Amino acid sequence: MTVPSEVGVIGGGRMGVGIAHAFLLAGANTVILERDADAAAQALAAIESAVLRSVERGSAGEDAATLLERCAVTTEVQRLATVGLAVEAVPEDPELKIAMLGRVEAVLADDAWLATNTSSLSIALLAAGLARPERFCGLHFFNPVPSSTLVEIVRGAGTSDELTDAARDWVHAIGKTPIVVNDSPGFASSRLGVVVALEAIRMLEDGVASAEDIDTAMVLGYKFPVGPLHLTDLVGLDVRLGIAEYLHGALGERFAPPALLREKVAAGLLGRKSGEGFFTWPEPKPTGEPHTTKDH
Ligand SMILES: NC(=O)c1ccc[n+]([C@@H]2O[C@H](COP(=O)([O-])OP(=O)(O)OC[C@H]3O[C@@H](n4cnc5c(N)ncnc54)[C@H](O)[C@@H]3O)[C@@H](O)[C@H]2O)c1
Repeated sequence: MTVPSEVGVIGGGRMGVGIAHAFLLAGANTVILERDADAAAQALAAIESAVLRSVERGSAGEDAATLLERCAVTTEVQRLATVGLAVEAVPEDPELKIAMLGRVEAVLADDAWLATNTSSLSIALLAAGLARPERFCGLHFFNPVPSSTLVEIVRGAGTSDELTDAARDWVHAIGKTPIVVNDSPGFASSRLGVVVALEAIRMLEDGVASAEDIDTAMVLGYKFPVGPLHLTDLVGLDVRLGIAEYLHGALGERFAPPALLREKVAAGLLGRKSGEGFFTWPEPKPTGEPHTTKDH
């Protein structure tokens, strides 16, 4: 089990920093590509603080100075020319992702691997413009990356078996568990997670039970770590609505967003980050601070 000696991450936001940090701790040199100097400075500060936290917790295995020497942030795509693997983690915008994947593939070595951390977009769509689709797959990490142990490896139609096997190895090497999913809307995790949440919202709309009792049904009855409505508050009602709309278009009526979800989003009741969603939260979550959910 090993990771490539140098790993690039495209986009140093919440997920990109977490992904870079995971590969760094597993022994890779990491380089994060950001869009401008301000975003690069933020990404650097975020990975430095993630490294310091893991050293303090004793989970790093190396001292902070050694780790920090092995991570870099850049705004120059050319800097990714030497990486063995590049993981794209820019915002969930198909045009932006397609553009960035193409730009990065053009500078990568012929034998380098390319992956996307998309939470829901089709691998076929993202691979369409690539010259080497067999070297491309989805690597769907969860938020927050350090404490989430699942990574979905998403195989596009062109993804090679060699890449699937290598990806399984990388995921084990960073201490997480891989599942392999064929390219399909919502993969395994979002599709199942969202359908349960949408049904819980419809049950609330229908007056079946209170939000607390619907959640308790799943926590105590089905051993969910948190209830589907609570989790929707953590993820953000707007984020869940966006995924539901996408899955509705791709998979049909069972993913139709309930009216209550649309109404709450329209009213700015977005969950924890706005102070209210299906539950009331004591303090709105400050922008930029990592969510505490493992779902997206
Ligand atoms: N946040 C989650 O819970 C979560 C979970 C799983 C997967 N994802 C997926 O991960 C991806 C990133 O999400 P995030 O939450 O980290 O977003 P984010 O907004 O926190 O980070 C995105 C980063 O990309 C950078 N960026 C934008 N344009 C760029 C460009 N042209 N070149 C380089 N960098 C650029 C931004 O400056 C920002 O730092 C999305 O596809 C999202 O769907 C998110």
